[in-house]
Amino acid sequence: MIIGAGIAAVYAAESARKAGFDGRIILCGDEGEAPYDRPPLSKKVLQETGEADRISLRDSAFYDAHDIDLRLGNAAQRIDREARQVTFSDGTSLGYGTLVLATGSSLRTLAQLPPEMPRVFYLRRISDAVALRDALPNLRKLVVVGAGVIGLEVAAVANGMGIEVTVLEAGPRPMARATCAEVCEFVVKQHEQRGVRIRTGISIMEVTELPSGYRLGLSGGESIDADAVIVGIGVVPNVSLASSAGLETCASGICVDGQGRTSDEHIYAAGEVAFHFNARMGRAERQENWHHAVAHGEHVGRSIVCGGPDYEEISGYWSDQYDFSLQSFGVSIGERNIVRGDPTAGRFIVFHMEGDVVAGVSSVGAPREMRVGKALVRSAASVPVAVLQDSSIDLAKWQSAVEHSAP
Ligand code: FAD
Ligand code: NAI
Repeated sequence: MIIGAGIAAVYAAESARKAGFDGRIILCGDEGEAPYDRPPLSKKVLQETGEADRISLRDSAFYDAHDIDLRLGNAAQRIDREARQVTFSDGTSLGYGTLVLATGSSLRTLAQLPPEMPRVFYLRRISDAVALRDALPNLRKLVVVGAGVIGLEVAAVANGMGIEVTVLEAGPRPMARATCAEVCEFVVKQHEQRGVRIRTGISIMEVTELPSGYRLGLSGGESIDADAVIVGIGVVPNVSLASSAGLETCASGICVDGQGRTSDEHIYAAGEVAFHFNARMGRAERQENWHHAVAHGEHVGRSIVCGGPDYEEISGYWSDQYDFSLQSFGVSIGERNIVRGDPTAGRFIVFHMEGDVVAGVSSVGAPREMRVGKALVRSAASVPVAVLQDSSIDLAKWQSAVEHSAP
């Protein structure tokens, strides 16, 4: 049985079947919709009516063909590990042989601006995106709280619709968790050139309701009015089902080994909720991106059926804002970040170095360089900074020459 019907869950079910599992698979989700893709929620779904109907991960024929019993709109509430049984919010219970927890994350919320307030939006589920999409055409002034990936993607969409956007970020710079200062500078410029105001080091102290929106009292003493507010201040892993069953959890998620196994050998965790061991990194970590949800879901589904090596995937993410797409692979902030190319022309790559090893790459408008960069990350290549910086040197050729000259 798999709890959670998101990206990791679907890929776990599919890969268990591919690995030869011929027993029953029950996929239980608390949302009413069949499993869907989340990245479009902060992008196309906000811009195009009808897009929300096109983001299903799989059609119903897939679940039939793979003999996956999809049960929606019912939250798992309790795991009885002794009886190997899960109880759901509708009072029913189901037994399991092996259980996979793929419960993902929930949004962090602001006490002064809870999601229940009118004209206050959050973005995690399809219903959140549809509500925001329907509201956007009627807005003149929008405040975005949090300059993370989601806040900035929404700011870009709203700006494109002619809405006056102000972004309020508590930290010293935008996307501080997701990217390095060099990429951040490019992103901020893109927003500011189009008239989006990004204020950093600022918090909301007070919220007053106005007839048509809110007046937000800010930490500096000033205030700002908005028709609506969208809050994107990060997520927390959904560990309560696991922790109340006595499984090992921590603030970073449900603790699992390189196979995805929890402290109970019959229970696994996959995707964003899993604080998982990554053999390549040599440590446990939690990843919050689409690539990891897919790869870890697949890995756990396969490991349950036939074991195999520990998880060692390198993940990354992308973010689409305005007319640019930021791609990132491996670590997204290095001890040193080496820029190659021309950010002012919207075409560059940044190598994230750990010592002299390329541990990650981020790029905008440079698909070929990104392909080469990914290969350098995969091979943990040591490349001199002067070579990385010099756009006249073909990195693919340089790398292959080094490999051929190696003893
Ligand atoms: P989730 O997608 O969170 O799925 C978990 C599911 O389990 C949910 O449906 C949840 O409701 C359900 N569930 C939880 N508890 C229970 C329970 N007790 N019983 C039953 N069901 C339960 N990543 C990128 O790399 N690039 C992007 O551009 C990008 N854009 C994004 C935009 C948005 C708006 C969001 C929200 C995320 C974005 N991501 C992006 C991140 C990516 O979508 C997530 O990392 C991914 O969805 C995680 O997948 P998951 O299956 O682990 O968890
Ligand atoms: P985030 O953690 O990336 O950014 C949150 C931002 O809000 C941070 O800059 C933080 O400093 C700021 N913040 C926190 N508290 C605040 C407060 N009280 N006032 C003002 N600012 C505050 O989280 P974000 O952007 O909400 O993204 C959440 C999820 O999106 C991720 O966990 C991941 O699942 C997903 N994701 C989205 C991608 C995309 O949209 N392209 C790419 C990869 C992942």
